[in-house]
Amino acid sequence: MKSILVVGGAGYIGSHMCKYLSRHDYHPIVLDNLVYGHRQAVKWGTFVRGSTSDSGLLRKLFADYTIEAVMHFAAFCYVGESVTNPAKYYENNVVNTLALLEVMVEYRVSNFIFSSSCATYGEPVQIPIREDHPQKPINPYGKTKLMVEQILEDFRGAYGLESISLRYFNAAGADPDGELGEDHDPETHLIPLVLETALGKRPCIEIFGENYPTKDGTCVRDYIHVEDLAQAHLLALERLFNGLPGGVYNLGNGDGYSVKEVVEIARNVTGKPIPARVVEKRPGDPAVLVGSSEKAMDELGWRPQFPDLSTIVKTAWNWHKDNPNGYGG
Ligand SMILES: NC(=O)c1ccc[n+]([C@@H]2O[C@H](COP(=O)([O-])OP(=O)(O)OC[C@H]3O[C@@H](n4cnc5c(N)ncnc54)[C@H](O)[C@@H]3O)[C@@H](O)[C@H]2O)c1
Repeated sequence: MKSILVVGGAGYIGSHMCKYLSRHDYHPIVLDNLVYGHRQAVKWGTFVRGSTSDSGLLRKLFADYTIEAVMHFAAFCYVGESVTNPAKYYENNVVNTLALLEVMVEYRVSNFIFSSSCATYGEPVQIPIREDHPQKPINPYGKTKLMVEQILEDFRGAYGLESISLRYFNAAGADPDGELGEDHDPETHLIPLVLETALGKRPCIEIFGENYPTKDGTCVRDYIHVEDLAQAHLLALERLFNGLPGGVYNLGNGDGYSVKEVVEIARNVTGKPIPARVVEKRPGDPAVLVGSSEKAMDELGWRPQFPDLSTIVKTAWNWHKDNPNGYGG
């Protein structure tokens, strides 16, 4: 059984990845400092508590296990905070990732899958966004992701470290078996916020602006099920294992839903009224962010299993309903 180091594997997407890897006969080794992750979310493979900043620990891990590849989910992800405290983001998302890559080179581990983001594109100039769209991130979070993509290109040329950067649009949904879900603190993602409103944990859902040039005036986003993201990671990993070149791939649905549509779908799924209130627009929110994932479909053979938003919301609702306090009980 091949061992895969899953950095950030106690987080939302990383924990789903570990389940998926173990279902496909890989051994996930999770390295997570639990700054944002949950120990209870690590149910498959081996857990090591620690940070990518700890090169000594990384060396020990690479010496103790035969690690065939690294999947990197460990980053800070709050766009707003990245504007007010960029140092925190450059330090963790770039400097600590560089430390990990250096140890990989030292131990000749040469397969790396990176969680990048549609935030690397910035304000879209064409929709759907393809991989060759200009990358002009408008916040430090997006810049950190672009910097790591660039570091990876240089490491490929100089050290033969092969990598695939996966630019996700909005990860959503939960494990269809109900064993894992999304539990961020603070939560900023629309679907869990809407579901927390359905549970009565929030009085209402705030809609930021309703005069965008979209079908109903609210922002349109592309939602992709977390298990479909895991499927793409495994395909990317196997592409590298097969000796094929790395690169960058978008992971999205190609289909956009407005904020009002998401709320309406959640009302139908939950059967709850979910009060909503329109408030001021947020600066820097593009009207539409929808990606083309044709390249991932053509080259990786990626076939999303949960493209329909109502199914995505249903999987999330099942988990939220059963775990109203998240992993906290
Ligand atoms: N959630 C989304 O919609 C989305 C969209 C685009 C990209 N991404 C990227 O996907 C990745 C995973 O996102 P998520 O929503 O699962 O986030 P998350 O916060 O749930 O998971 C990140 C995990 O990494 C851990 N971590 C952070 N820094 C670490 C370090 N230095 N060493 C060890 N562990 C560390 C945290 O404790 C957490 O468990 C991130 O890199 C994020 O930028 C997410």
